[in-house]
Amino acid sequence: MIEILDEKIFHLYNEKISYIFYVMENQQLGHLYYGGALGAITADELGYFLERENKSAGTVKFSADSGMFTLADRSQEYPVYGTSDFKEGALDIQAADELWYLDFKYVGYEQVAEKKRTLDRPASYACSGEAETLIIHMADTDHHLELVLSFSIFADSSAIVRSQVLKNKGSQVIQLNKMLSGVLELPSADYEFIHLSGAWLKERHIKRRSLEQGTVSIGSLKGASGHQHNPFTALAHKQATLNDGVVYGTNLIYSGNFLVQVEVDEWQRTRLMTGIHPTHFNWQLGHEEVFQTPEAVLFYSGEGLNGLANEAARFAEKHVIDRKWMRKLRPIVFNNWEATYFEFDQEKLTTLAKAGKDLGMECFVLDDGWFGRRDDDRSSLGDWFVDERKFPNGIKVFAEQIHQMGLQLGIWFEPEMVSPKSQLYEAHPEWVVRHPYERTAIGRGQYVLDFSNPEVVEAIYAQLKKIIEETQLEYIKWDMNRNITEAYSTYLKAVGRPQTEFFHRYILGVYHLYECILTDFPDILIEGCAGGGGRYDLGILFYSPQIWPSDNSDAVERLAIQSGTLLGYPLSSFSNHVSTSPNHQIDRHTSLQMRQDVCLFGPLGYELDITKLDDEEKRAIQANIQFYKAHRDLLTHGTFFQLLPIGDTENEVAWAVCNQDRSEWLIGFYRKLAQANPPNVEYLKIPMMDQAKTYLINGAAQVTGGMLKEIGLKKPYVFNGVNHEQMQVSGDFQSAIYHLKEIR
Ligand code: GLA
Repeated sequence: MIEILDEKIFHLYNEKISYIFYVMENQQLGHLYYGGALGAITADELGYFLERENKSAGTVKFSADSGMFTLADRSQEYPVYGTSDFKEGALDIQAADELWYLDFKYVGYEQVAEKKRTLDRPASYACSGEAETLIIHMADTDHHLELVLSFSIFADSSAIVRSQVLKNKGSQVIQLNKMLSGVLELPSADYEFIHLSGAWLKERHIKRRSLEQGTVSIGSLKGASGHQHNPFTALAHKQATLNDGVVYGTNLIYSGNFLVQVEVDEWQRTRLMTGIHPTHFNWQLGHEEVFQTPEAVLFYSGEGLNGLANEAARFAEKHVIDRKWMRKLRPIVFNNWEATYFEFDQEKLTTLAKAGKDLGMECFVLDDGWFGRRDDDRSSLGDWFVDERKFPNGIKVFAEQIHQMGLQLGIWFEPEMVSPKSQLYEAHPEWVVRHPYERTAIGRGQYVLDFSNPEVVEAIYAQLKKIIEETQLEYIKWDMNRNITEAYSTYLKAVGRPQTEFFHRYILGVYHLYECILTDFPDILIEGCAGGGGRYDLGILFYSPQIWPSDNSDAVERLAIQSGTLLGYPLSSFSNHVSTSPNHQIDRHTSLQMRQDVCLFGPLGYELDITKLDDEEKRAIQANIQFYKAHRDLLTHGTFFQLLPIGDTENEVAWAVCNQDRSEWLIGFYRKLAQANPPNVEYLKIPMMDQAKTYLINGAAQVTGGMLKEIGLKKPYVFNGVNHEQMQVSGDFQSAIYHLKEIR
């Protein structure tokens, strides 16, 4: 997978991609190519591309003795600003009042075959033989700095994973103003920048814009990756479609403040960079101290957006999320939040659990309100002991009741938060993230705990551990409901670290709590959540195989949220709960069928008062659960495709999922609004079908793969104003599920 030519050209390749960089004339690292596989090549063959004239008129040259050589027209692996390249760089350092113009020269390389999974920080991993890492050592001798650049390639993936370590060898303390993780340089700007943006209740909607000369960026300064923007982004060639054409993707294995920036220069060349957001970040490095960036992942697909989505999903499932979650069943969850909110006691919960069990559910998740004195969202966060008014015999007895029903138990925590009205806050007001100013920002009536302080993380863990042990807990819902403003830590002040390190240290504290839990309780399934989908990223997925994607549980709204999310994340990460109608977030009425059909794709759950259902509804839920159980592996780990154009305004959405040998498919078709006298588009083509095979549709009709590919599945007949006898669906919010099985 890694070939080194003439000791100065580095070629990382597998059957999907090639990634090539080289040592330039000035001893810095130039980037040559990332794209479809080129196979083995010789240094001579590459020489053809490396020997080049300076084409960029009007540039500053690198040095007085470097002839025409300038960095302005070179693609680079880890560029810095101001050394004949005027674009923004990935690394920015100063010492006292002096901004440094860095010049990292190549020193040597090493190759590492292992990429182990360790819980201290989220990062990609691989089993033996699956990945190789090329480590490049660079040095800036004038500034006494060492820089280590890592590039990992995986046998089964188009991904290249990058990260960096900087070491200060000098005696002067330096300020790291910016140190990004990933750089992707492309020789043209014929791309659309695609990102997943939105807000609370409308996370990860697909946004697209054409690149132009200048800079566009998205990011977060909220202490979490956030509802508004997501670290996954893509650059799709203007001619790329759902299934064809070149698309690059990028992501960060990180959950804190991030930046993704795309700059197009005057020669229409594109530089995408991603990493920890440099605003409100500044890391101090003393003699021999190091700073390590989170990992950035780059993806490539020559098969359009579906190709990219498959690459991103497979990579996350095999190399980020703990792989055991590919084998272990994701339980069908019943969550009491939208069924009861804070209005419950033990009896009400056990009645719900029993009703859920009778319908086929497998795990009862006790949401907010079980601890302290929490009757609304204004108190008790931080007091992780049971409220005996609601559980008079203690949480242990309740857990036993749930387990005796043959259900798993899950419990909601919000470990990073504290309510002003809580015992924890009374005992430790100094544990709150709060500036010494008199004004203190508050969100949802709560403060953020200072997770940059190890003592705080330990104290919270001690409380959680007690509950986990007492209840023999199988599942945790880890929530995080407010963002950080006025980031200031009394602890950092006391230990003499700058406040500008807070945001990164905070998120490392969050990872440390995950590490504590998963070290002691490796089999516990932790579901991520942050006011819905406010922290849906690869950092969280490293520890939590699934995430509650949005507080919006409306089936129609979820179509756009799910389509956006699945562009960058696997189906198995997207928790679905069937909720009630009218929906609690937007008051929309939808049929139970539509709600169940949307929730089928991904880990399934229910979140409504099931004791109020009529018999017909109960039968429909039972049947859906049976169907889901029969196809669970396909519906959580299958390969996912979009069949219709994606965005957030499309009226029709169609999802397909198939197993590894593509012999079995499930297809969901969804139509939002009914139209009068609609256009006659009656078929849904499945372009990825095998022409030579024959399939059984819903156990009845037989058709060939060729027909499905070229003509398509018959959509349900919709009511068009006159076809009363033939119509199968009418009105708004309709859906249909198709099962396709190869028979020869
Ligand atoms: C957040 C979560 C919800 C629920 C509530 C409880 O909003 O996203 O699912 O757990 O908190 O307060």
